[in-house]
Amino acid sequence: MKPVQNKLRLGVNIDHVATIRNARGGIHPDPVRAALMAADAGADGITAHLREDRRHISDDDIARLRSNVALPLNLEMAATEEMLAIALRHLPNAACLVPERRQELTTEGGLNIHKKKKFLHDFVQALKAADIRVSLFIDPSSKQIEAAAEIGADIVELHTGRYCEAALNGDKKEEAKELKRLVEGAAFGAELNLEVHAGHGLDFATVKPVAAIPELVELNIGHFLIGEAIFTGIEAAVTDMRKIMNEVRLGAQAEQTS
Ligand code: PXP
Repeated sequence: MKPVQNKLRLGVNIDHVATIRNARGGIHPDPVRAALMAADAGADGITAHLREDRRHISDDDIARLRSNVALPLNLEMAATEEMLAIALRHLPNAACLVPERRQELTTEGGLNIHKKKKFLHDFVQALKAADIRVSLFIDPSSKQIEAAAEIGADIVELHTGRYCEAALNGDKKEEAKELKRLVEGAAFGAELNLEVHAGHGLDFATVKPVAAIPELVELNIGHFLIGEAIFTGIEAAVTDMRKIMNEVRLGAQAEQTS
């Protein structure tokens, strides 16, 4: 078993600050301000998804995130020519390729690499040539993880949505099954020398077993944190998530050394 890494990075996804802003148009609340506050509260990176329909994050948000926020930016994007040009213009630290159209989805919701392997290979290489680390958001399936390695991705982000949904529904059997897939997927990804991240739907409870997976290097969390920020503020929400992640890591480390 891989030694438990000391620190698990927290990428804070600020998309839904923009969702609230866009509900009324205008400039408030500003996702860049949220990113700066998340940075102060201990986030290790900022994640933003520039969707083709611009339903939350805008092109201007990406430009302002790049010029105002010192933390690494993980730009979530669809694998389209338009998004490639934007990524090459703003040079985020990482680009996470996500499906946006139904036909690109596997049944679980991650990117189906096999369906567009040659296209995605070339797309990944174009980003890497500009020194952008490339992550693929996939279901924790060995077939997809293997394909990600084959096309030269640096990172796989394992989709935690099914696990979180099962937990939310109180379906213990399904939750355990999905958690096992994440545990095995993370180990397999690391074996193939991929950096392994995870995210989607995580909250203060569901994050715990995920944070204990030793191969995971980063979690990307958005909707829950922004929702929680309505009640406690963004700094408290991020600080509390960070604290839970740190405690789980320390606990897992102590277990390994005892
Ligand atoms: N990772 C990826 C690739 C995503 O697309 C999203 C959602 O935008 C997240 C993580 C964060 O998910 P959530 O907002 O449910 O925490």
